[in-house]
Amino acid sequence: MRKVLIIHGPNLNLLGKREPDVYGSVTIEEINSALKERAKKLKLSVDIVQSNHEGEIVDLIGDAEKKYSAIIINPAAYTHTSVAIRDALQATKLPAVEVHLSNIYAREEFRRQSVTAPACRGQISGFGSTSYLLALEAIHSSF
Ligand code: DQA
Repeated sequence: MRKVLIIHGPNLNLLGKREPDVYGSVTIEEINSALKERAKKLKLSVDIVQSNHEGEIVDLIGDAEKKYSAIIINPAAYTHTSVAIRDALQATKLPAVEVHLSNIYAREEFRRQSVTAPACRGQISGFGSTSYLLALEAIHSSF
């Protein structure tokens, strides 16, 4: 069974309490259960990790080829700043999909650039927690 690594970046552990007007009231636990349920239907297996640490995310991406067939990542604030995460995504042979709950292109100027997306197969932005499920479907149909 193909295995997908799902990475939630910084502050996404706070979903539900964090800026609900922007991110909604869904919690990370609810997103993770929906992902596991969808993965089961698609006959995929998922490992889900949340990290607030850039270097840890770089390590996860760097080691992913050993165990996984694809990566889904919401780099959160690192989307707009992290050359290290972009380089890790560029270096891995695995296809990656970048996910955002909010439409980053409809928000503040500094969020309108993704440093990391050019190193991904594609990006899904603006559909709330459904963005993650769409990413899983996209990965599944690319296999
Ligand atoms: C986010 C958008 C980022 O700009 C922000 O820093 C986040 C969440 C999103 O999912 O909409 O933490 O990645």
